[in-house]
Amino acid sequence: MNQSLVLAIALSLSFGAQAADVRDRVVDRVSQPLKGREVYMQSCAMCHSPGTGGAPRPGVSEDWAERARKGPAELMISVLRGKGAMPPKGGNASLSRTEAYLALDYMLNGDK
Ligand code: HEC
Repeated sequence: MNQSLVLAIALSLSFGAQAADVRDRVVDRVSQPLKGREVYMQSCAMCHSPGTGGAPRPGVSEDWAERARKGPAELMISVLRGKGAMPPKGGNASLSRTEAYLALDYMLNGDK
């Protein structure tokens, strides 16, 4: 292998890594999961991260085993109407239905 070929490969590798970085950041910004995470952090995390009052914790499968069986549509109804100790939209009436859904999707699926 001659030197310029080695250089070309090294360059393309480092540019490739940079491009992947940029792509990840752009995808993060335009895709819904980031928004879902934001809504979750602002309006849901205070109860759901610690599991206050029996709030199901994201990523803790035993908290979701029964609830997941209902399917996302019915879970969404709980979010909009409230359930037990959870007020409608987690108490943040300014959330749009879409934002509430994105938060639910983030809770169920994480940052995918
Ligand atoms: C004030 C605390 C609190 C906040 C804020 C809150 N929740 Fe909850 N959430 C709960 C509690 C407690 C439950 C368990 C209710 C029950 O099953 O009786 C619950 C249950 C749920 C469930 C399961 C519903 C079902 O039918 O089993 C979902 C989904 C959910 N919350 C989503 C959200 C989302 C999305 C947000 C933010 C927009 C949010 N919650 C904000 C306390 C909260």
